[in-house]
Amino acid sequence: MSSSIPTVKLNTGAEIPTIGLGTWQSEKGQVREAVRYALTETPIRHIDAAYVYLNEEEVGQGINDAIASGKVKRSDLFITTKVFMTFHNRVEESINESLKNLNLDYVDLLLVHWPLGFNPKGSHPLFPKTADRKKFDLDPTFDLVKTWKQFEQVYKSGKAKAIGVSNFSVPVLEELLAGGIEVIPAANQIESHPFLPGKEVVEFCKKHGIVIEAYSPLGSTGAPLLDNPVVTELAKKYGVPPATILVSWHVNEGRVVLPKSIKKSRILSNAEWIKIDKDDLSKLDELSSKFGLNRVVKPDWGVDLKFPDWRL
Ligand code: A2P
Repeated sequence: MSSSIPTVKLNTGAEIPTIGLGTWQSEKGQVREAVRYALTETPIRHIDAAYVYLNEEEVGQGINDAIASGKVKRSDLFITTKVFMTFHNRVEESINESLKNLNLDYVDLLLVHWPLGFNPKGSHPLFPKTADRKKFDLDPTFDLVKTWKQFEQVYKSGKAKAIGVSNFSVPVLEELLAGGIEVIPAANQIESHPFLPGKEVVEFCKKHGIVIEAYSPLGSTGAPLLDNPVVTELAKKYGVPPATILVSWHVNEGRVVLPKSIKKSRILSNAEWIKIDKDDLSKLDELSSKFGLNRVVKPDWGVDLKFPDWRL
Protein backbone atom coordinates (compact mmCIF):
# COMPACT_ATOMS: atom_id res chain seq x y z
CA MET A 1 0.00 0.00 0.00
CA SER A 2 1.45 3.38 -0.95
CA SER A 3 0.51 6.61 0.73
CA SER A 4 2.46 8.78 -1.68
CA ILE A 5 0.39 9.81 -4.68
CA PRO A 6 2.16 9.81 -8.06
CA THR A 7 1.70 12.65 -10.53
CA VAL A 8 1.39 12.69 -14.31
CA LYS A 9 2.53 15.50 -16.58
CA LEU A 10 0.04 17.73 -18.37
CA ASN A 11 0.88 19.14 -21.81
CA THR A 12 1.66 22.44 -20.04
CA GLY A 13 4.51 20.74 -18.17
CA ALA A 14 2.65 20.94 -14.84
CA GLU A 15 2.26 17.83 -12.72
CA ILE A 16 -1.24 16.69 -11.75
CA PRO A 17 -1.64 14.34 -8.76
CA THR A 18 -3.29 11.11 -9.93
CA ILE A 19 -5.67 10.97 -6.96
CA GLY A 20 -7.89 13.96 -6.23
CA LEU A 21 -10.94 14.51 -4.07
CA GLY A 22 -14.24 14.78 -5.96
CA THR A 23 -16.79 17.26 -4.60
CA TRP A 24 -19.90 16.64 -6.74
CA GLN A 25 -22.85 16.01 -4.38
CA SER A 26 -20.71 16.87 -1.35
CA GLU A 27 -23.18 18.54 0.94
CA LYS A 28 -22.82 22.08 2.18
CA GLY A 29 -22.04 22.05 5.88
CA GLN A 30 -19.73 19.06 5.35
CA VAL A 31 -17.57 19.74 2.34
CA ARG A 32 -15.48 22.52 3.94
CA GLU A 33 -14.19 20.19 6.63
CA ALA A 34 -13.82 17.30 4.16
CA VAL A 35 -11.57 19.44 1.94
CA ARG A 36 -9.53 20.84 4.86
CA TYR A 37 -9.07 17.33 6.23
CA ALA A 38 -8.06 15.89 2.85
CA LEU A 39 -5.44 18.59 2.26
CA THR A 40 -3.93 18.60 5.74
CA GLU A 41 -4.38 15.10 7.18
CA THR A 42 -4.00 12.91 4.06
CA PRO A 43 -1.62 12.86 1.05
CA ILE A 44 -4.32 14.46 -1.14
CA ARG A 45 -3.32 17.79 -2.69
CA HIS A 46 -5.81 17.80 -5.54
CA ILE A 47 -9.43 19.00 -5.32
CA ASP A 48 -11.93 18.75 -8.14
CA ALA A 49 -14.65 21.41 -7.97
CA ALA A 50 -17.24 22.95 -10.31
CA TYR A 51 -19.33 26.11 -10.42
CA VAL A 52 -22.50 24.05 -10.92
CA TYR A 53 -21.94 21.90 -7.82
CA LEU A 54 -23.21 24.92 -5.84
CA ASN A 55 -20.73 24.21 -3.05
CA GLU A 56 -17.72 25.93 -4.59
CA GLU A 57 -17.62 28.61 -1.89
CA GLU A 58 -17.39 25.99 0.86
CA VAL A 59 -14.80 24.04 -1.10
CA GLY A 60 -12.81 27.29 -1.23
CA GLN A 61 -13.19 27.75 2.52
CA GLY A 62 -11.77 24.25 3.04
CA ILE A 63 -8.83 25.06 0.74
CA ASN A 64 -8.17 28.35 2.52
CA ASP A 65 -8.47 26.69 5.95
CA ALA A 66 -5.80 24.22 4.83
CA ILE A 67 -3.49 27.00 3.63
CA ALA A 68 -4.12 29.05 6.80
CA SER A 69 -3.11 26.04 8.93
CA GLY A 70 0.43 26.40 7.52
CA LYS A 71 0.54 22.69 6.65
CA VAL A 72 0.27 23.29 2.89
CA LYS A 73 0.98 26.17 0.52
CA ARG A 74 -1.16 27.21 -2.46
CA SER A 75 1.68 26.06 -4.73
CA ASP A 76 1.43 22.53 -3.25
CA LEU A 77 -2.19 22.25 -4.36
CA PHE A 78 -3.91 21.37 -7.62
CA ILE A 79 -7.37 22.91 -7.89
CA THR A 80 -9.78 22.32 -10.78
CA THR A 81 -13.08 23.98 -11.55
CA LYS A 82 -15.46 23.93 -14.54
CA VAL A 83 -17.53 26.25 -16.68
CA PHE A 84 -21.20 25.30 -16.97
CA MET A 85 -23.34 25.41 -20.11
CA THR A 86 -25.15 28.69 -19.48
CA PHE A 87 -21.72 30.41 -19.37
CA HIS A 88 -20.34 29.29 -22.71
CA ASN A 89 -20.52 32.80 -24.11
CA ARG A 90 -19.19 34.25 -20.83
CA VAL A 91 -16.22 32.11 -19.88
CA GLU A 92 -14.33 34.98 -18.26
CA GLU A 93 -17.35 35.82 -16.12
CA SER A 94 -17.55 32.18 -15.03
CA ILE A 95 -13.88 31.93 -14.01
CA ASN A 96 -14.15 35.25 -12.18
CA GLU A 97 -17.16 33.93 -10.23
CA SER A 98 -15.37 30.68 -9.47
CA LEU A 99 -12.20 32.44 -8.29
CA LYS A 100 -14.36 34.64 -6.05
CA ASN A 101 -16.14 31.56 -4.67
CA LEU A 102 -12.87 29.72 -4.12
CA ASN A 103 -11.10 32.85 -2.83
CA LEU A 104 -8.11 32.06 -5.06
CA ASP A 105 -6.11 34.01 -7.67
CA TYR A 106 -5.95 31.12 -10.14
CA VAL A 107 -7.03 27.54 -10.68
CA ASP A 108 -4.68 24.84 -11.89
CA LEU A 109 -7.16 23.50 -14.41
CA LEU A 110 -10.35 24.91 -15.92
CA LEU A 111 -12.65 22.54 -17.81
CA VAL A 112 -15.52 22.87 -20.30
CA HIS A 113 -18.01 20.94 -18.15
CA TRP A 114 -20.11 19.48 -21.02
CA PRO A 115 -19.87 20.01 -24.82
CA LEU A 116 -23.19 21.80 -25.27
CA GLY A 117 -24.72 25.19 -24.61
CA PHE A 118 -27.77 26.26 -22.61
CA ASN A 119 -29.75 29.47 -23.15
CA PRO A 120 -27.91 32.01 -20.97
CA LYS A 121 -31.05 34.12 -20.63
CA GLY A 122 -33.58 31.34 -20.06
CA SER A 123 -35.90 30.33 -17.25
CA HIS A 124 -33.06 29.46 -14.85
CA PRO A 125 -29.43 30.67 -14.54
CA LEU A 126 -28.05 27.12 -14.70
CA PHE A 127 -30.81 24.73 -15.80
CA PRO A 128 -33.16 26.64 -18.15
CA LYS A 129 -36.16 24.74 -19.48
CA THR A 130 -38.21 25.17 -22.66
CA ALA A 131 -41.63 26.87 -22.39
CA ASP A 132 -43.42 23.51 -21.97
CA ARG A 133 -40.89 22.65 -19.18
CA LYS A 134 -40.24 19.31 -20.86
CA LYS A 135 -36.71 19.81 -22.12
CA PHE A 136 -33.57 21.76 -21.35
CA ASP A 137 -33.43 25.04 -23.24
CA LEU A 138 -30.44 24.52 -25.53
CA ASP A 139 -28.55 27.46 -27.03
CA PRO A 140 -28.74 26.97 -30.82
CA THR A 141 -25.83 29.39 -31.32
CA PHE A 142 -23.45 27.29 -29.20
CA ASP A 143 -20.13 26.92 -30.98
CA LEU A 144 -17.57 24.65 -29.35
CA VAL A 145 -14.56 26.32 -30.96
CA LYS A 146 -15.77 29.83 -30.04
CA THR A 147 -16.16 28.71 -26.44
CA TRP A 148 -12.71 27.14 -26.50
CA LYS A 149 -11.18 30.37 -27.84
CA GLN A 150 -12.49 32.07 -24.69
CA PHE A 151 -10.82 29.34 -22.62
CA GLU A 152 -7.57 30.09 -24.45
CA GLN A 153 -7.89 33.76 -23.43
CA VAL A 154 -8.43 32.76 -19.78
CA TYR A 155 -5.35 30.51 -20.03
CA LYS A 156 -3.29 33.40 -21.41
CA SER A 157 -4.53 35.64 -18.58
CA GLY A 158 -3.03 33.23 -16.00
CA LYS A 159 -6.34 32.72 -14.20
CA ALA A 160 -6.21 29.06 -15.28
CA LYS A 161 -2.78 27.39 -15.44
CA ALA A 162 -4.20 24.73 -17.76
CA ILE A 163 -7.43 24.29 -19.71
CA GLY A 164 -9.25 21.13 -20.61
CA VAL A 165 -12.59 19.50 -21.28
CA SER A 166 -15.02 17.11 -19.65
CA ASN A 167 -17.47 14.58 -21.06
CA PHE A 168 -15.88 14.81 -24.52
CA SER A 169 -16.18 11.73 -26.75
CA VAL A 170 -13.80 11.03 -29.66
CA PRO A 171 -16.01 12.69 -32.33
CA VAL A 172 -16.42 15.81 -30.18
CA LEU A 173 -12.67 15.98 -29.50
CA GLU A 174 -12.02 15.55 -33.21
CA GLU A 175 -14.36 18.47 -33.96
CA LEU A 176 -12.53 20.66 -31.44
CA LEU A 177 -9.03 19.70 -32.61
CA ALA A 178 -10.03 20.37 -36.24
CA GLY A 179 -11.31 23.84 -35.34
CA GLY A 180 -8.01 25.73 -35.69
CA ILE A 181 -7.42 25.95 -31.95
CA GLU A 182 -4.16 27.18 -30.43
CA VAL A 183 -4.11 25.25 -27.14
CA ILE A 184 -4.67 21.48 -27.06
CA PRO A 185 -6.84 20.49 -24.07
CA ALA A 186 -4.64 19.31 -21.19
CA ALA A 187 -7.23 16.89 -19.79
CA ASN A 188 -10.54 15.21 -20.52
CA GLN A 189 -12.56 14.36 -17.42
CA ILE A 190 -15.01 11.54 -18.07
CA GLU A 191 -16.98 8.96 -16.14
CA SER A 192 -14.61 6.01 -16.00
CA HIS A 193 -14.48 2.74 -14.10
CA PRO A 194 -14.09 -0.90 -15.16
CA PHE A 195 -17.77 -0.93 -16.22
CA LEU A 196 -17.26 2.08 -18.49
CA PRO A 197 -13.57 1.98 -19.43
CA GLY A 198 -14.04 4.24 -22.47
CA LYS A 199 -11.27 2.45 -24.33
CA GLU A 200 -11.71 4.46 -27.56
CA VAL A 201 -11.55 7.86 -25.83
CA VAL A 202 -8.69 6.77 -23.55
CA GLU A 203 -6.73 5.63 -26.61
CA PHE A 204 -7.48 8.85 -28.54
CA CYS A 205 -6.46 11.06 -25.61
CA LYS A 206 -3.24 9.11 -25.11
CA LYS A 207 -2.36 9.71 -28.77
CA HIS A 208 -2.96 13.46 -28.38
CA GLY A 209 -1.26 13.86 -24.98
CA ILE A 210 -4.55 14.62 -23.20
CA VAL A 211 -4.66 13.29 -19.61
CA ILE A 212 -7.77 11.28 -18.70
CA GLU A 213 -9.43 12.11 -15.38
CA ALA A 214 -11.97 9.56 -14.10
CA TYR A 215 -15.04 10.76 -12.25
CA SER A 216 -17.51 8.48 -10.43
CA PRO A 217 -14.79 5.80 -10.15
CA LEU A 218 -16.81 3.89 -7.53
CA GLY A 219 -20.08 4.15 -9.48
CA SER A 220 -21.30 7.39 -7.85
CA THR A 221 -23.97 7.51 -5.11
CA GLY A 222 -23.66 4.53 -2.78
CA ALA A 223 -20.50 3.25 -4.54
CA PRO A 224 -22.30 0.29 -6.19
CA LEU A 225 -19.18 -1.01 -7.97
CA LEU A 226 -17.58 -1.98 -4.68
CA ASP A 227 -19.80 -5.09 -4.56
CA ASN A 228 -18.74 -6.57 -7.88
CA PRO A 229 -17.35 -10.08 -7.26
CA VAL A 230 -14.24 -9.55 -9.41
CA VAL A 231 -13.45 -6.35 -7.47
CA THR A 232 -14.06 -7.97 -4.07
CA GLU A 233 -11.99 -11.01 -5.07
CA LEU A 234 -9.03 -8.80 -6.03
CA ALA A 235 -9.48 -6.80 -2.81
CA LYS A 236 -9.19 -10.06 -0.86
CA LYS A 237 -6.14 -11.16 -2.85
CA TYR A 238 -4.28 -7.88 -2.22
CA GLY A 239 -5.65 -7.44 1.33
CA VAL A 240 -7.09 -3.95 0.64
CA PRO A 241 -10.59 -2.42 0.62
CA PRO A 242 -12.46 -2.78 -2.73
CA ALA A 243 -12.26 1.01 -3.27
CA THR A 244 -8.45 0.73 -3.34
CA ILE A 245 -8.73 -1.70 -6.27
CA LEU A 246 -10.92 0.73 -8.25
CA VAL A 247 -8.68 3.71 -7.44
CA SER A 248 -5.47 1.79 -8.13
CA TRP A 249 -6.69 0.56 -11.54
CA HIS A 250 -6.53 4.17 -12.78
CA VAL A 251 -3.28 5.06 -11.01
CA ASN A 252 -1.56 1.94 -12.42
CA GLU A 253 -2.70 2.85 -15.94
CA GLY A 254 -1.57 6.50 -15.69
CA ARG A 255 -4.97 8.14 -15.33
CA VAL A 256 -6.18 10.64 -12.74
CA VAL A 257 -8.98 9.40 -10.46
CA LEU A 258 -11.41 11.53 -8.43
CA PRO A 259 -13.24 9.52 -5.75
CA LYS A 260 -15.82 11.60 -3.88
CA SER A 261 -16.40 11.31 -0.15
CA ILE A 262 -17.26 13.56 2.75
CA LYS A 263 -16.36 10.87 5.31
CA LYS A 264 -12.88 11.26 6.78
CA SER A 265 -12.04 7.56 7.05
CA ARG A 266 -13.02 7.05 3.39
CA ILE A 267 -11.15 10.13 2.18
CA LEU A 268 -8.04 8.75 3.87
CA SER A 269 -8.43 5.20 2.57
CA ASN A 270 -9.38 6.33 -0.96
CA ALA A 271 -6.03 8.19 -1.07
CA GLU A 272 -4.17 4.88 -0.87
CA TRP A 273 -3.19 2.82 -3.86
CA ILE A 274 -1.34 -0.40 -4.63
CA LYS A 275 0.60 -1.82 -7.56
CA ILE A 276 -1.66 -4.31 -9.33
CA ASP A 277 -0.19 -7.19 -11.39
CA LYS A 278 -0.62 -6.99 -15.16
CA ASP A 279 -2.93 -10.02 -15.26
CA ASP A 280 -5.21 -8.52 -12.65
CA LEU A 281 -5.25 -5.13 -14.44
CA SER A 282 -6.36 -7.03 -17.55
CA LYS A 283 -9.18 -8.65 -15.53
CA LEU A 284 -10.39 -5.14 -14.62
CA ASP A 285 -9.91 -3.92 -18.21
CA GLU A 286 -12.17 -6.71 -19.41
CA LEU A 287 -14.90 -6.43 -16.75
CA SER A 288 -17.25 -4.50 -19.02
CA SER A 289 -17.16 -7.19 -21.68
CA LYS A 290 -18.22 -9.68 -19.01
CA PHE A 291 -20.79 -7.60 -17.14
CA GLY A 292 -21.77 -5.05 -19.83
CA LEU A 293 -21.24 -1.30 -20.00
CA ASN A 294 -22.83 0.69 -17.24
CA ARG A 295 -22.85 4.49 -17.50
CA VAL A 296 -24.08 5.87 -14.18
CA VAL A 297 -24.15 9.61 -14.92
CA LYS A 298 -26.28 10.28 -17.98
CA PRO A 299 -28.19 13.54 -17.66
CA ASP A 300 -30.95 14.03 -20.21
CA TRP A 301 -29.45 17.15 -21.79
CA GLY A 302 -31.15 16.46 -25.13
CA VAL A 303 -27.87 16.26 -27.06
CA ASP A 304 -26.11 13.17 -28.43
CA LEU A 305 -22.64 13.30 -26.90
CA LYS A 306 -21.45 10.62 -29.34
CA PHE A 307 -19.99 8.17 -26.84
CA PRO A 308 -20.52 4.62 -28.23
CA ASP A 309 -23.16 3.88 -25.54
CA TRP A 310 -24.83 7.34 -25.55
CA ARG A 311 -28.29 7.31 -27.11
CA LEU A 312 -30.79 10.15 -27.00
P1 A2P B 1 -19.75 9.36 1.13
O1 A2P B 1 -19.48 10.70 0.54
O2 A2P B 1 -20.84 9.35 2.15
O3 A2P B 1 -18.49 8.65 1.59
P2 A2P B 1 -17.85 8.16 -6.68
O4 A2P B 1 -16.48 8.53 -6.22
O5 A2P B 1 -17.87 7.03 -7.67
O6 A2P B 1 -18.63 9.35 -7.17
O7 A2P B 1 -18.65 7.57 -5.43
C1 A2P B 1 -19.11 8.41 -4.41
C2 A2P B 1 -20.06 7.63 -3.53
O8 A2P B 1 -19.37 6.56 -2.90
C3 A2P B 1 -20.63 8.47 -2.42
O9 A2P B 1 -21.94 8.01 -2.14
C4 A2P B 1 -19.67 8.19 -1.26
O10 A2P B 1 -20.35 8.41 -0.04
C5 A2P B 1 -19.34 6.72 -1.47
N1 A2P B 1 -17.99 6.33 -1.07
C6 A2P B 1 -16.84 7.02 -1.28
N2 A2P B 1 -15.78 6.32 -0.84
C7 A2P B 1 -16.25 5.16 -0.36
C8 A2P B 1 -15.65 4.02 0.24
N3 A2P B 1 -14.34 3.96 0.41
N4 A2P B 1 -16.45 3.01 0.64
C9 A2P B 1 -17.79 3.07 0.47
N5 A2P B 1 -18.43 4.12 -0.09
C10 A2P B 1 -17.66 5.16 -0.50
